[in-house]
Amino acid sequence: MRKYFPLGGAFKLIAAITAIGTFSLAQNANSAQAASPTSKKDTAILLVAFGTSVPRAEIAYTNIDRLVKKNFPGIPVKWAYTSSIIRRKLAKQGKKIDSVEEALRKLYKAGYKKVAIQSLHITNGQEYQKIVSTAKEFFSPEFGFEKIKVGNPMLLSYGDLKYLVSAVRHTLPGDRRPQDAVVLMGHGNEKGIGDLSYVAAAYEFSKEDPKIFVGTVEGAPSFDDVKEQLIKAKVKKAFLIPMMVVAGDHAMNDMAGDEPDSWKSQLEKSGIQCVPYLHGLGENDQVMQIFVKHLEKVLKSFN
Ligand code: CO
Repeated sequence: MRKYFPLGGAFKLIAAITAIGTFSLAQNANSAQAASPTSKKDTAILLVAFGTSVPRAEIAYTNIDRLVKKNFPGIPVKWAYTSSIIRRKLAKQGKKIDSVEEALRKLYKAGYKKVAIQSLHITNGQEYQKIVSTAKEFFSPEFGFEKIKVGNPMLLSYGDLKYLVSAVRHTLPGDRRPQDAVVLMGHGNEKGIGDLSYVAAAYEFSKEDPKIFVGTVEGAPSFDDVKEQLIKAKVKKAFLIPMMVVAGDHAMNDMAGDEPDSWKSQLEKSGIQCVPYLHGLGENDQVMQIFVKHLEKVLKSFN
């Protein structure tokens, strides 16, 4: 327990903080509006993203902020970034963004009793797990938050994955022809933590459209996996699309950059024409419904 927090050392919960949220495709449309926590005044929403230092990429976060406020009117919405590197970089530019701890400490001091945290991460990887463990430290019915829960990341259930596949397929760039490949670039983890979601996504996308491929920058499936598949499928043209909430540094450089090691450069070297699409999933309202649903589930559990 941190020194600023009143309860010394003893935290009881563990089981009480559970990542919750299964997603039913059928209930998707606008049902989040039905979420009406009994006493909104003591409840706050905390949206937690990795963060970005690319100003243009922030459009995705702005869009999520708007969607969440629209779906849960009257509940204050706060933000935190998990990346300390990004937070430090932004602080140097005079832009102060809270860590999860800082944001929770402020909410506690402001008198909130219940906090619905929504992770804006794609998998239950390292960043997501950091949020869950920080949240645990702030739970105590007597001396901490009465209720604090972390909504699931984007891909934890098969229903969410099926919804994502459908939402992405319906929002692909209009000039993509059936013979063109779509390469989705996820982040991934060098130790493979959470990467099963990407492996499952690759399978599920290919089942619905054999010309859609999924790879990751740092984990599995790897870029080499994807490149091999594209060559095997005799792809001539590929749309490169970030499977990330923001189209930030990874999308601009690792995916679409002009350096010889970018995905675009390497694929073009193999004779595949590349069309980078620099929009994060956070700009896609349909896809973002997944997070809205997860958050709704957390808020409903507070009733
Ligand atoms: Co990264």
